[in-house]
Amino acid sequence: MLVLLKPSYEELSREAARIVAITVKNNPSVTLGLATGSTTLGMYRELVRRHEEERLDFSKVTTFNLDEYLGLPAEHPQSFHRFMGEHFFNHVNMNPDKIHIPDGTLGGDYEEYCRLYEEAIREAGGIDLQILGIGRNGHIGFNEPTSSFGSRTRLKVLTSETIEDNRKFFAAGEEMPECAVTMGIGTILEARKILLLATGAAKAETVAEAIEGPITASVTASCLQLHPDATFVIDEAAAEKLKQREYYRRVMELTARFTPNRLS
Ligand code: F6R
Repeated sequence: MLVLLKPSYEELSREAARIVAITVKNNPSVTLGLATGSTTLGMYRELVRRHEEERLDFSKVTTFNLDEYLGLPAEHPQSFHRFMGEHFFNHVNMNPDKIHIPDGTLGGDYEEYCRLYEEAIREAGGIDLQILGIGRNGHIGFNEPTSSFGSRTRLKVLTSETIEDNRKFFAAGEEMPECAVTMGIGTILEARKILLLATGAAKAETVAEAIEGPITASVTASCLQLHPDATFVIDEAAAEKLKQREYYRRVMELTARFTPNRLS
């Protein structure tokens, strides 16, 4: 696991976008796994800038989003469909046929739908680079504490902590979705490379648990310790509770000197 410490949210966002941009340039037909959430906003802003100013080309890229609230139509202001359109897809040259976001509005057979979502990922050749945020309770996607490390795309009941954290995005008095469709931990761990972004002091505790704590389904992000190519890009505030902070700094310095490709 590589831990990249960045002095600010802006630098974290630039670094994440730089890694995505290099991945897309190296393989224009790459398959990306995408996350939503406030942490990812700066990265998407920077990717849009790179598209506009540096002609970063997304026309052959395929994307799969991690999750969507159950019951929210695509046009709902808080749906992840809307988030992705507003912050990324509407501003770059993605082929709409290559965009995949779970549908939260199917009334009926989610088991079959989720199976087909997994099949579509497989048919696209698997996810080359998966972007993740992290919830305060350590979730990735909407894999809440106690989610199985073998889990696949499915419906998940959200914890009250997650509902509270996300309430601020909804209108006052509006009912919050209590469930979501989410890729599973097993699905996420199959990505070839994983990039987790975390910002702010509110995430410091859970970031430390995910990186330095025991591997446990109580902090589902800790599963990334099992992944051969997972990178955490975190700012100073989110890194506050890491015991090995100085070691990560030395790793960054020496890796940049001796194996610069590992950082790119
Ligand atoms: C969103 C997702 C979630 C968020 C996490 C952090 O697609 O999968 O796991 O990444 O809840 O959200 P923010 O960045 O808003 O703190």
